[in-house]
Amino acid sequence: SAELWNSAVRVLDTNWAGDHMVPSRRLYPHQWSWDAAFIAIGLAYVNPTRAWRDLRSLFEAQWPDGRVPHIVFDPATAEADYFPGPAFWDVPAYGNRPARGSTGIVQPPMHAIAAWEVYRHAAAHGAACAQEARTELEWLYPRLVAQQRYLTTGRNLGRAGLASIVHPWESGLDNSPAWDEAMANVPADLALLSRYRRRDLDVSDAAHRPTDLDYSRYVGLVVSYRAEGYSDAGLLDRHAFAVECPAFNSILASAELALAQIAGELGLSAEAAGHRDRAGQITAAIIRRLWNERTGTFHARDVHTGKLTPANCVSGLLPLMLPDLPADLVRAVMDEMRSERFGLPVPSYDRTAPDFDTMRYWRGPVWINVNWLIRRGLLMHGFRDEAEDLRTAMVRLVHRNGHFEYFHPTSGEGLGAPTFSWTAALSLDLLA
Ligand code: DGY
Repeated sequence: SAELWNSAVRVLDTNWAGDHMVPSRRLYPHQWSWDAAFIAIGLAYVNPTRAWRDLRSLFEAQWPDGRVPHIVFDPATAEADYFPGPAFWDVPAYGNRPARGSTGIVQPPMHAIAAWEVYRHAAAHGAACAQEARTELEWLYPRLVAQQRYLTTGRNLGRAGLASIVHPWESGLDNSPAWDEAMANVPADLALLSRYRRRDLDVSDAAHRPTDLDYSRYVGLVVSYRAEGYSDAGLLDRHAFAVECPAFNSILASAELALAQIAGELGLSAEAAGHRDRAGQITAAIIRRLWNERTGTFHARDVHTGKLTPANCVSGLLPLMLPDLPADLVRAVMDEMRSERFGLPVPSYDRTAPDFDTMRYWRGPVWINVNWLIRRGLLMHGFRDEAEDLRTAMVRLVHRNGHFEYFHPTSGEGLGAPTFSWTAALSLDLLA
């Protein structure tokens, strides 16, 4: 509807900060990595120049080793306005960037997918936009390749061809029950946390946010990774958390497929073939390492223990994004999605689990970005009716409740931040 479209455009106007988009003005007052990708996908319809600017700002902060930081700090935002802020992360200077410009961890590599989406839509805005899109795509391509190389080499901690995340924040699914077992082995230092102030609790409802126990472990993992300057050499031996996530790795494989399309468009056919090969290898590794025959779904693997987490989370459904997922596994994932544990729109966690929490972040609520990815998977495998049902359900949810960060999985009530950029941006894509 025009009303939803216009309100989404207003959110994106309000959250634009000159050369990047903030996810939300109060709760997230810097630039976030995977947010920028989802945001670009929606901005492509209303302001492609800003979509490219946002991606460029993010990749200007890329590290020499290829990692794209999960937050690029806005120097105009005070340390006190976000925790943990630039001084806590204390990353070294690199390239022409001053010290403390970003965090040292990553987020799911959605950016090649986003760049290709923005590029595809730019032509509709006329010749100047098409020219701009070409220039930006050429600038981004080698940087996107370096991002993938970092994740598939530096982060191949399990030596099986998958990227490990070394902090729950890297998954983007921060307090998902998928990490509960692995996090139980991370020391929780509440005394350390008590020396700081959780800024998120000043600006949002504590019942919607991760707990202090979660935060004490989050902060401890930053301290552990920070100790060796965020180096990945020998990391497994000195760092308590390393997990292979099915959602992160499905995005990693999908990014290789998007890079194949980008390389093809840029006339790099040998590179395109290499990207397709790597997508196939990552897909095979996801199936080998993360599929559980017994539960009929995918689970996160703790690299330290070799165990798959028992939790049934939305991350286990995201391999549906992979075009080469074998038909029997597609069927199994669809059965799981249609079961009483999930249903459309898909909640972040098994509705029947005793600890399903309708309010708390990634432990139950419905998120638009993962549902957008699920819809992509449904379309990929030809489930047109369900894809359309899901699209309608998402549009209705946002129209009725507003551009919230996440939503109550039964009532639809908006939770978390009220004017959240990716919800607005993806609404534009769903309406377009
Ligand atoms: C937050 O601040 O809650 C973010 O999710 C961390 O990246």
